Amino acid sequence: MVNEIGSVSQTGEQLSPERRAFLARLSIVLASVSALIVAIPVVGFILGPLFEKLPRVWRRVGALDDFKVGETVKVDFVDPSPLAWAGVTAETAAWLRRTDQNTFIAFSLHCTHLGCPVRWIDTADLFLCPCHGGVFYADGRVAAGPPPRPLPRLPVRVRGGQVEILASAVPLSGWSSR
Ligand code: FES
Repeated sequence: MVNEIGSVSQTGEQLSPERRAFLARLSIVLASVSALIVAIPVVGFILGPLFEKLPRVWRRVGALDDFKVGETVKVDFVDPSPLAWAGVTAETAAWLRRTDQNTFIAFSLHCTHLGCPVRWIDTADLFLCPCHGGVFYADGRVAAGPPPRPLPRLPVRVRGGQVEILASAVPLSGWSSR
């Protein structure tokens, strides 16, 4: 039965104003806790990548003798942090140039504009991006088009007669160019 205040318990007894206030506060607290339980994993999923340290892994790309001095060739390797379901999308690549007997330079495959894969044009001594006409000189500097930065370079080393590249995440920003 409803009294003049309009509040009754389930058993029909009248609820005091203090009890109603307590139940209202309890409802708010329980709703807040529930919202927090749902929000924590969502916020973690959204913000997590900002604080994740990107893995960098040395990947073998071929034997030292496979590369001729002066040539720039595409070398394939596996992404440093492939997802379990990535399949062929875990395959990535870089442009590698042997400048003398023991020195190599590696350039990212990805244009610094929007990440399209660039191609090395041997006859022109240029890297060309097919997406929006970006052009890079042989040393990676921007020659023309919208790319805002030079092609990032990847560290290269020779270990036990094998050439290795320090693979990292796709560098749309934040990579230094040397
Ligand atoms: S992605 Fe290369 S020029 Fe736009």
